[in-house]
Amino acid sequence: MVTVRVPATSANLGSGFDVFGAALETPADIVTLSEADETSIEMHGVGSEYIPEDPAKNTAGVVAKALDAPAHIKIDKGVRPASGLGSSAASAAATAVGLNELYDLGLSRRDLIPYAAEGEALVSGEAHLDNVAPAILGGFTIATDETVTRISASLALVACLPDIVVSTRDAREVVPDTATLDDVVDTVGRAATLAVGMMRDDPVLVGQGMEDNIVTPRRASLIDGYHRVRERALREGATGVTVSGAGPTVLAMCRERDQRAVAMSMVEAFATVNVDARAYQTRIGPGASVF
Ligand code: HSE
Repeated sequence: MVTVRVPATSANLGSGFDVFGAALETPADIVTLSEADETSIEMHGVGSEYIPEDPAKNTAGVVAKALDAPAHIKIDKGVRPASGLGSSAASAAATAVGLNELYDLGLSRRDLIPYAAEGEALVSGEAHLDNVAPAILGGFTIATDETVTRISASLALVACLPDIVVSTRDAREVVPDTATLDDVVDTVGRAATLAVGMMRDDPVLVGQGMEDNIVTPRRASLIDGYHRVRERALREGATGVTVSGAGPTVLAMCRERDQRAVAMSMVEAFATVNVDARAYQTRIGPGASVF
């Protein structure tokens, strides 16, 4: 039997749509796998009632099939589904890492990323690596069609999850097909600034690099109270605010000393539009760990 803890992740970070991702220390899924002749899945935890246990319809089942490694997979969800915190990627990544260990498949962490992405594709409709890469490798990751680059970073973040559901499929429909050259030029500059900020553990550079004028404004329109939450967080010292993944979680980069005030202000701002929310005061952290 193998147990894997796999973290929530935040994709995009504003300027890195479908490319950037970061592992968060909390929340996390716990996945326990044991050898079996046929794959079966048992769901527990937050939002588990909405996730099918049929292996053909569950990200973990798809990964087990892709690796040709049947198992009994017990998933305890700590990452709420449809939160923008890489919930489906977490279960897919944990399954890939766990099966590799359980059956001694000898694959490297990097080898496992495409298998986990197959599971993720079941839910999001397309195979993106921006959640599964940090879920498996940890840290901040830059995932392109050719390479996955990992940067170790240690920065404080607040991930504020409102009680709203935004499906990844819906959130992808609002993404524009085209962008102006001015917006592309701005985004390239921001993305490069963010990556350097991660290398230097500099929350100000990362925050400046999180701005994005192409995807985030459209996604923000799906989140009640987004602009109020953003303004309050910035006033309390957040260095940058954006939509986490497909939303509705709102992600704020901040200095450690401001983290508590930023978290409280975001929850309060959601309350002003009658939306309950909880804020995770977290950090960029490690990827899946086997224990
Ligand atoms: N980059 C993806 C998106 C993350 O924002 O739609 C969710 O798969």
